[in-house]
Amino acid sequence: MNGLNLTGSTVLITGAGSGLGRELAVQASARGATVIAWDLDGDAAQTTANQVGGSWAKVDVTDADAVAAAAAELDVDVLINNAGVVTGKYLLEATEAQIRRTFEVNTLAGYWTTRAVLPGMLERDRGVVVTIASAAGLVGVAKQTDYSASKFGAVGFTESLRAELRSFGSRVRTLLVAPYYINTGMFEGVRTKFPLLLPILETSKVAAKVLNAIEAGRQQLVLPPMVRLVPPLRILPPVAFDVLLDLFGINHTMDHFVGRRR
Ligand SMILES: NC(=O)c1ccc[n+]([C@@H]2O[C@H](COP(=O)([O-])OP(=O)(O)OC[C@H]3O[C@@H](n4cnc5c(N)ncnc54)[C@H](O)[C@@H]3O)[C@@H](O)[C@H]2O)c1
Repeated sequence: MNGLNLTGSTVLITGAGSGLGRELAVQASARGATVIAWDLDGDAAQTTANQVGGSWAKVDVTDADAVAAAAAELDVDVLINNAGVVTGKYLLEATEAQIRRTFEVNTLAGYWTTRAVLPGMLERDRGVVVTIASAAGLVGVAKQTDYSASKFGAVGFTESLRAELRSFGSRVRTLLVAPYYINTGMFEGVRTKFPLLLPILETSKVAAKVLNAIEAGRQQLVLPPMVRLVPPLRILPPVAFDVLLDLFGINHTMDHFVGRRR
């Protein structure tokens, strides 16, 4: 696999004003990358950029025109589609606006950002498009009908893009990242039944693994390893699959969810 050395590379990170995005910016910069930090919250993006000596822009990634304009002059080697939102409500409790927003940010935004930087990557025959999806993109749980489906969409987007790049014979790659819960605050209140098997992940460790995967040329990163069992377990009939999920307490992880307190 052709890895990509971050030293001297330009890395564009969406949602870089907080959590995993900010940590990715800090660590990518420490590895010698030039970081471009985008966030809906311009002040937060600026704080990240100041921290890493990079540049920043206030960009709403759901706005395709704004994304195209902000990316117009950029030569991006690594795009990290990281911006994300969660509602954390039962289907009948979420508003229509919340449901639409979840798909706009978690799924559709990846189309606009990738379409903006991919032509340059193809021309240079160099680049990585990283999708920060989620373990929720591999399995659905209660209170995540919008979130989980939006991440399943992001997984399908990334796999299809990988297929397109393969059919072009391009050296541009994709990396799908599917982590279980991370202690960024986005999922404040979630609980895990077996912390040894399914720990709440450390933001800094996830960021390091994502950057290692980019440099190693990996195409998929599922964390922790236990989550890799989900796709093969789908050979089971749904009733048995559900029993296993319930045994591991997966369906109750969101019971005490409060989310980010801003
Ligand atoms: N925290 C977890 O448990 C967890 C687990 C698996 C996957 N993820 C995914 O990791 C990514 C980062 O999550 P996090 O935990 O760091 O969350 P976070 O809330 O700390 O950061 C998300 C950032 O995205 C930005 N953002 C939201 N909407 C935007 C928009 N329209 N345009 C631009 N920026 C926007 C927010 O302002 C925020 O700075 C998300 O895609 C999330 O779904 C998180």
